[in-house]
Amino acid sequence: MDSEVALHTSIPAGLDRKESEIYSRLDPRRLPRHIAIIMDGNGRWARQRHLPRVAGHRAGVESVRSTVETAARIHLPALTLYAFSSENWKKRPPREVDFLMRLLRRYLKAEVPTLNQNNIRLEYIGRRHELPDAVQERMQWAQQATAKNTGMVLTLALNYGARMELVDAFNAIVQAAANNGGLRHLKIDEELIDRHLYTRHLPDPDLVIRTSGEMRLSNFLLWQVAYAEIYVTATHWPDFRGRHLLEAIAEYQTRERRYGGLSDGHGAHT
Ligand code: FPP
Repeated sequence: MDSEVALHTSIPAGLDRKESEIYSRLDPRRLPRHIAIIMDGNGRWARQRHLPRVAGHRAGVESVRSTVETAARIHLPALTLYAFSSENWKKRPPREVDFLMRLLRRYLKAEVPTLNQNNIRLEYIGRRHELPDAVQERMQWAQQATAKNTGMVLTLALNYGARMELVDAFNAIVQAAANNGGLRHLKIDEELIDRHLYTRHLPDPDLVIRTSGEMRLSNFLLWQVAYAEIYVTATHWPDFRGRHLLEAIAEYQTRERRYGGLSDGHGAHT
């Protein structure tokens, strides 16, 4: 069989029936290189069921598992999950924050074998030094345990805020220049800023998914999403599964990306 046809028709191992059906409609040569997800709606999901908010977070772990596995199975190069914003830390009751921290530690411990089976490398973005010591230690352990994997990069945004990231990047640039002959020769360009962001290990996201309906970026990857497609679904995060990820990719593939140029048929196209 012609290899191009084979590429179109082969369904990756491990997808369930619904996922396979959606995948068969995708063009595997035009997968996004990086998908970033704003996981929202855990609280609303719980409230609809008359459950405490934390039950929504607990259920959200299963969604993380399903989404990560499906993403790895289709060979998505990079997936980033907004798990905990720097604002969450200040604005949520301490008991809920404490619950999220314990959930994260438990997730990291339980998931490392699956991450390794799926050849997934774990990375983090955010001010990790402000997180509790026990969380930092577990993060370090999980990162080291998956460091040799060569497949998908799973980045967890923990105590992350985009403006904070930019502040940290600018401070790092100035500090590096001061240590290296002073500011007089400093030339700031986009590439220099990219190299000082927490996301320096990643390409910019092609697709941002937000669950639970809000049309906001909530201080997530503001620099990096300059040309990203945005997909908002009403589905609350605890109901989100791998098939929803594939549906978002299907929608992404129907969009025309112009990067500031004109569409085909209108002359100049960049
Ligand atoms: C948003 O829902 C969700 C969060 C702030 C936390 C996300 C955490 C998880 C999905 C579970 C743990 C994560 C990992 C990586 C293991 P919300 O509480 O803001 O919902 P609401 O807007 O409906 O109140």
